[in-house]
Amino acid sequence: MQIIHTIAELRAWRKTVSSVAFVPTMGNLHEGHLALIEQAKKEENHVVVSIFVNRLQFGQGEDFEQYPRTLQQDADKLRHAGVAVLFAPDERELYPNVAQNYHVEPPHLQNELCGAFRPHHFRGVATVVCKLFNIVQADTACFGKKDYQQLAIIQGMVDDLNVPIRIVPVDTGRAADGLALSSRNQYLNADERAEAPRLYQQLQWIGTQVAAGNHHYAALENAAKSTLSAHGWTVDYVEIREAGSLNVARLGDKNLVVLAAARLGKTRLIDNLEIQAA
Ligand code: PAJ
Repeated sequence: MQIIHTIAELRAWRKTVSSVAFVPTMGNLHEGHLALIEQAKKEENHVVVSIFVNRLQFGQGEDFEQYPRTLQQDADKLRHAGVAVLFAPDERELYPNVAQNYHVEPPHLQNELCGAFRPHHFRGVATVVCKLFNIVQADTACFGKKDYQQLAIIQGMVDDLNVPIRIVPVDTGRAADGLALSSRNQYLNADERAEAPRLYQQLQWIGTQVAAGNHHYAALENAAKSTLSAHGWTVDYVEIREAGSLNVARLGDKNLVVLAAARLGKTRLIDNLEIQAA
């Protein structure tokens, strides 16, 4: 595996290979990331993984400074996984102009769900992903459904701006107790870690209700929020949406997704589950 730090070297390497699948990450890799890489290997001949903790997508008071940076261990995992190139630029390489005057501005969806609690987050994500797509020039990119709204925003960017890349969604990797794998899980203390699976359990409960014909979506969302609050969570949102558009779910929509974000102590967890209406 080659470790490449500059855009020029990455571009030179890109010219020497036929097809590339790309997996953008912020590092601190876990099994969820590795599932994306396994999928990427099936899609194209060579896999490029990027590791870059993108300041632009962190708000004030968020965990940009403390976000775990584990490049050496990550590189070992990627080598083992059969990745061709690890692209690990530093901030000066990716943002030589500190002001970063041009951005990719997603539509209103960027202000909903997680966007309502993390202003400018999705603009920061779309901007860095656009830059990385232009640098790597991959045929395919794999994104996790764990970050369902992020996936929708990137797919929308690719569609609306005719970015020549195919987006492949990958199912959420989970711990045995159902908790979605996340680099932020390590912020949880033992009690919080024991409580954490309740988030996914509540999504599953809503899924069961909806599949059984319960169409009182607001009541279901409120019931899940109350249960979580009663167990010490601070809930940002629990919302049932139409799976393709992420529009608010309406009666008659069949393919739905229930998305949630909630905090345990100072750790913010997100999760979602695709569900079918009866
Ligand atoms: P990061 O949180 O490192 O995630 C990188 C990719 O791994 C994303 O596509 C994310 O959805 C996926 N992923 C994370 N946990 C997962 C899990 N448990 N199961 C399946 N996939 C999972 O998402 C980002 O980084 C950044 O926003 C990025 C796209 C790299 C832009 O900076």
